[in-house]
Amino acid sequence: MSSTQSPKDFFRPLAVGAPEPLREVPARPSRAIHFFDPSNPKMAAKVPDMVGTVDVLLGNLEDAVKADNKLAAREGLVEIARSTDFGPTQLWTRINSLDSPWALDDLTTLVPAIGDKLDVIMVPKVQGAEDIHYVDRLLAQLEAKAGLTRPILVHAILETARGVANVEEICGASPRMQGLSLGPADLAADRRMKTTRVGGGHPGYLVRQDPVGGDIDGPRTTYQQDLWHYTIARMVDACATHGIYPYYGPFGDITDVVACEDQFRNAFLLGCVGTWSLHPKQIAIANRVFSPSVEDVTHARRVAKAMGDGTGAVMLDGKMEDDASLKQCLVMVELAEQLAAVDPELKKAYDAIELED
Ligand code: GLV
Ligand code: MG
Repeated sequence: MSSTQSPKDFFRPLAVGAPEPLREVPARPSRAIHFFDPSNPKMAAKVPDMVGTVDVLLGNLEDAVKADNKLAAREGLVEIARSTDFGPTQLWTRINSLDSPWALDDLTTLVPAIGDKLDVIMVPKVQGAEDIHYVDRLLAQLEAKAGLTRPILVHAILETARGVANVEEICGASPRMQGLSLGPADLAADRRMKTTRVGGGHPGYLVRQDPVGGDIDGPRTTYQQDLWHYTIARMVDACATHGIYPYYGPFGDITDVVACEDQFRNAFLLGCVGTWSLHPKQIAIANRVFSPSVEDVTHARRVAKAMGDGTGAVMLDGKMEDDASLKQCLVMVELAEQLAAVDPELKKAYDAIELED
């Protein structure tokens, strides 16, 4: 909400005939947002078979699509969206950045052609609330013209220093805001960080143990630190404040599945609900990491059962549980239920949990 707007106007449609904005962003499972290039016929051909195997399929129009292929990517996405039944899988797109020669045509082409199929539009390089306001009004006009009955949601990539500085106002700029992703590659460049990678850590970013026994030349353990902890933590707080969802982003080293899983898990533990997948291998990692483990769900259900009406404190396995630990457990239980509703394997695993009396 901008400072001069009355709260009562926040949920008004921004164009006559545009769909009513949502009061709450639905918590739809989105553990992996799998990127495909709609201008690449080999990749595009695989899309229909991926329906049902991943929570979100995203047709990417921005970076990683060559300038000469921008039109083919846009048209390819229209074709794929029209000819595919996405069933339970969400369809998202990443449009080109708002200052590029393609963003306007991306929006004016996609909304009339496939606006009824698009769940979320990811906007890259968002700098502040003004970028969201621009997209918000334009989408309302296009939705009204196309006769759409459901608003398309907006997801911002946080990949500029100014975007990070404005993260709270970005999240609260429109009822369309669905969430935020970290864009570590562009963010590193914009911040003038001295890295050359897409996501992940760096061996030079570390802390070192003090000299052991005063021996300055002796061996000392080092621990690599997480370059993205600060940004993810800010995103999580901004998103939770506004009732929307934070995501990790790209992890570029496709072969390093171990480090990829670590980065994803850190994001999950800090509060993120999902991440990007740049290769089918990463879908499996994301689905595993962003689904609570059977052990965690078992524990959470035990605490919920033991806490009865949810007040007071109980001892379980020598640990104190109270109202606050119960609330954490309920987050886990609720997420497990949402995921079980779309993932039969998980449902089986969670349903098999038996609690002792
Ligand atoms: C993603 O777009 C990134 O820049 O990391
Ligand atoms: Mg980027």
